[in-house]
Amino acid sequence: MKKQIAVIKGDGIGPEIVNQAIKVLDAISYRFNHEFKYVPVEMGACAIEKHGEPITDKGLALCAQSDGVLLGAIGDPKYDNDPTLKVRPEQGLLKLRKFLGLFCNIRPIVTYDNIADQSPLKNHLLNDVDFVIYRELIGGIYFGEKTLSEDGTVASDLCTYTSRQIERIAHEAFKAAEQRNKKVTVVDKANVLETSRLWRKEVMNVAELYPQVKLEYLFVDNAAMQIIQQPQSFDVILTENMFGDILSDLASVITGSIGMLPSASVGGLNALFEPIHGSYPQAKGQDIANPNATILAAAMLLEYFEMNEEAAVIRQAVDWAMEEGIVSQDLSADSPSACSTIGDLIANYIEGHGELTINKRNTEESKGVLI
Ligand code: IPM
Ligand code: MG
Repeated sequence: MKKQIAVIKGDGIGPEIVNQAIKVLDAISYRFNHEFKYVPVEMGACAIEKHGEPITDKGLALCAQSDGVLLGAIGDPKYDNDPTLKVRPEQGLLKLRKFLGLFCNIRPIVTYDNIADQSPLKNHLLNDVDFVIYRELIGGIYFGEKTLSEDGTVASDLCTYTSRQIERIAHEAFKAAEQRNKKVTVVDKANVLETSRLWRKEVMNVAELYPQVKLEYLFVDNAAMQIIQQPQSFDVILTENMFGDILSDLASVITGSIGMLPSASVGGLNALFEPIHGSYPQAKGQDIANPNATILAAAMLLEYFEMNEEAAVIRQAVDWAMEEGIVSQDLSADSPSACSTIGDLIANYIEGHGELTINKRNTEESKGVLI
């Protein structure tokens, strides 16, 4: 099969982690006889430096014309610390999400047994944690009108939702729950916010079409607590844009490393796949980042292309690397493998049908090089 993939490496560790995902996609295309054409697109701080804007119209068009988009990470501290700047790397991502119409962000939270000790939670709380956050991605406070008074002392960000915006993501969440453990938890602040009350009303209507799925509501402050206290109680969390942003970072630490979690943004012209972590600028260029979230994002991209067997092979290869202890610094401070080594070994494992053509001695040597 032929597929065109827009590739946005972005800032910080973005290029390093995307390079590993590309190695893995190349291994898949070799093994399964596919043809992946990668189209580079600049976005983020790197695009601002080069073009004066975080993504150009040409970049947007290239993404729209591709079959899917793979993104590393964007963001640079030099923009975070100056509130007066008008152009910011993150605007590129928001613009792209809006342009492609990606209203549904899917963030699966799963744990890996062999890194359970890295989790800040007690081990017994991690058993059977497997839930997914459905975050509305192109509405709410992120996209409402923003104002700043002339004297610079009063600011506002408007949070708006329409029934249609709520309904369409609710359907996605309920469809997912039907295939999973049949529970949707709506997270909102309906005791305070009008938009949350509209969410409740619309979701209640959608729920009637999915009688097998149980519907629950939680206020967002309580949800933050429950995600830590009883993460195994969740199946599908359905929430608006900003609550989803915050809760997905919160949920990610449960697993022991934010470097393991991919996400998909769907519902529009095509779909975008990225790790849920940021650009980790402190690690830029050091070859120490964890590439697994991006490699798993590539697996989600393949599922979107209906290449389910191929995606399963990637997941299996990542599991293998985890079991072999071929992991980055965040997961093994004592004996880490380099980001590029992890990519090489996972790609090699895939090409060799699970038979690693590089032997374990080489793996150890690669580790040695890193340290
Ligand atoms: C995310 C990120 C983005 C967001 C930023 C980079 C704009 O934090 O994807 O979670 O807030 O949506
Ligand atoms: Mg975020």
